[in-house]
Amino acid sequence: MTGVDDCRLIELPRIDRPQGAITAVEGGVTIPFEIARIYYIYDVVYQANRGGHAHKELQQVIVAVLGRLVVTVDDGAQRRSIVLDRADQGLYVPRMTWRELEQFSSGAVCVVLASLPYDEADYIRDHGAFLAARSSEASASS
Ligand code: TYD
Repeated sequence: MTGVDDCRLIELPRIDRPQGAITAVEGGVTIPFEIARIYYIYDVVYQANRGGHAHKELQQVIVAVLGRLVVTVDDGAQRRSIVLDRADQGLYVPRMTWRELEQFSSGAVCVVLASLPYDEADYIRDHGAFLAARSSEASASS
């Protein structure tokens, strides 16, 4: 099963022109899955956190297209915090990874590329239930 060591920063192409920069991403090419959904997080209230859940199947790539935030990932055994502050870098978060998005800078905008359409049934919103689901998956595969 994947864990926080599988969370990795993906370098996205940055095309610089005298007028400014463009970054384009393609599902299955730059992004390690087909993109089924895109959502963005913005107008985050000072000191508010987002996330605080895991997904049973969903994979995501999180990009701070403007400003800065910290993503903490947790697989039940390890936790890691990663600063995102570049529009040309994305954090890959595999399935069954608890994530918290925090320390948003003022005006930050975060784009999330997701492998599946929205489905509330894919969420695990309780950390204890997340730990139990991970250990039952680990024992089923051993
Ligand atoms: P949620 O993923 O729970 O965000 P957070 O954990 O950061 O609060 O989403 C918040 C609300 O937005 C929730 O009611 C579900 C809704 N939502 C959608 O309808 N579609 C989506 O693609 C997402 C990501 C959320």
